[in-house]
Amino acid sequence: MNIINKLLAPFPRISLAHLPTPIDESANLSAALNGPPIYIKRDDCTGLALGGNKARQLEYYLGEARENDADAVLITGAVQSNYARMTAAAARKLGMECHIQLEERVPGVDDTYRRSGNVLLDRIFGASFHSYPEGEDEAGADRQLERIADQLRERGKNPYVIHLGPDRSPLGALGYVRAAGEILSQIEDQGLPIDHMVIASGSSYSHSGLLVGLRAAGSRLPVSGICVRRRAGLQQIRVKDCTRAVEAMLRLTRPVVTEDDIHVFDGTLAPGYGRINPMVLEAIRLLGQTEGILADPVYSGKSVAGLIALIRAGQFAESKAILFIHTGGAPALFAYETELMRQLTVQ
Ligand SMILES: Cc1ncc(COP(=O)(O)O)c(C=O)c1O
Repeated sequence: MNIINKLLAPFPRISLAHLPTPIDESANLSAALNGPPIYIKRDDCTGLALGGNKARQLEYYLGEARENDADAVLITGAVQSNYARMTAAAARKLGMECHIQLEERVPGVDDTYRRSGNVLLDRIFGASFHSYPEGEDEAGADRQLERIADQLRERGKNPYVIHLGPDRSPLGALGYVRAAGEILSQIEDQGLPIDHMVIASGSSYSHSGLLVGLRAAGSRLPVSGICVRRRAGLQQIRVKDCTRAVEAMLRLTRPVVTEDDIHVFDGTLAPGYGRINPMVLEAIRLLGQTEGILADPVYSGKSVAGLIALIRAGQFAESKAILFIHTGGAPALFAYETELMRQLTVQ
């Protein structure tokens, strides 16, 4: 995928993930759903502190951080942020401090949610914790990170802030532009009959990066994004704005992603971000019991649930094979232990 390599060449990147991640055929899951063949791109196995999609995004942020000689990295996210966990691990590996700002995004959580899962791992990596009371004020969360960065500068540090608000440059999405090239090569080399992809869509950096990478490489493969954070109407706008920003970053002379390329599905999001519903429970159980693969309640469980819902709705009736991008997140299973144990034992 020479074109993708050429587009990405100007951006500093460090290697953090174990790549390429494998694509596994998941015949038991397809049979259980009486659906088309399903392949799973194992981005849960990117290898950075238990893996996940954010390893690919961090390769670009920390590439820039290292080029700036940063000695501290700051990031904001939900209490059970996989991104924060992987940022802490990568920062340590590169000899940097890590400051994690945890936002209150999920109502009604218990003590296990606050102490276990990703939070436990953040502690192992010796991250410094900060808190932000709002879960849906992305610009405010970014501004507070900047204030913490200013305090670090006063102490003589050289911090690098990973901003995630929609008004910021989506540098991390380049990790999924690159992933598009990796996937297209695997499809070709392995002769896979993939004609549709499904991926979780939150900040949309993964979804948008993948779309831009595919289209820039000349692939028309459709991609369905499963909403894990906000409803479809808002997510559609998010993906559109993000793809435009990625195209601009890559200095493409014209947009390669059209509005018709953007498909988002929010049928498995309720009652909201980070909250479990019966479809997610079914998805976690089904993926575990057919393929021996873990999915979490916040991201991959919701996106597998979305895949199942779309298959049952006949969306892929004509499909030769679907590629589901598994974005990881399993550490959060332990944070949701109380609710999962209650629900899983009932069945
Ligand atoms: C495990 C996992 N899957 C999916 C996502 C969503 O990816 P994106 O924010 O790139 O849309 C996240 C985001 O935090 C995540 O941690």
